[in-house]
Amino acid sequence: MPTVTFVSDRLPAPVSVEAAAGELLLEVVRRAELPLWWRCGHGTCGACLVRVSHAGQPVPFRLGRKERNVMIRQGYLPKTALADDDFIDSPDLPRLACHIAVTEDLLISF
Ligand code: FES
Repeated sequence: MPTVTFVSDRLPAPVSVEAAAGELLLEVVRRAELPLWWRCGHGTCGACLVRVSHAGQPVPFRLGRKERNVMIRQGYLPKTALADDDFIDSPDLPRLACHIAVTEDLLISF
């Protein structure tokens, strides 16, 4: 089972939670009752932004359309970012907790 460790200035100390393989990060957050704000739960509001660290970074990956659109709208990606562009999975690029399936140990900051 992957372990997800959360760090935030909204937490008194880091919190580690076990996740089922493939579980959405937002579900882990909700189950653990962590103070990460979210609204829509499906990648349109952009409220659930997190920074993700894991052992495999940095690595190229593709963002889904909804997540890419939120990143463009919030200024994290240029308006010219295309669906078939590769992006670099690293803590430098915020991600949406409602779009991340947990498949390995993660360090999440918010
Ligand atoms: S909860 Fe709205 S984008 Fe994730």
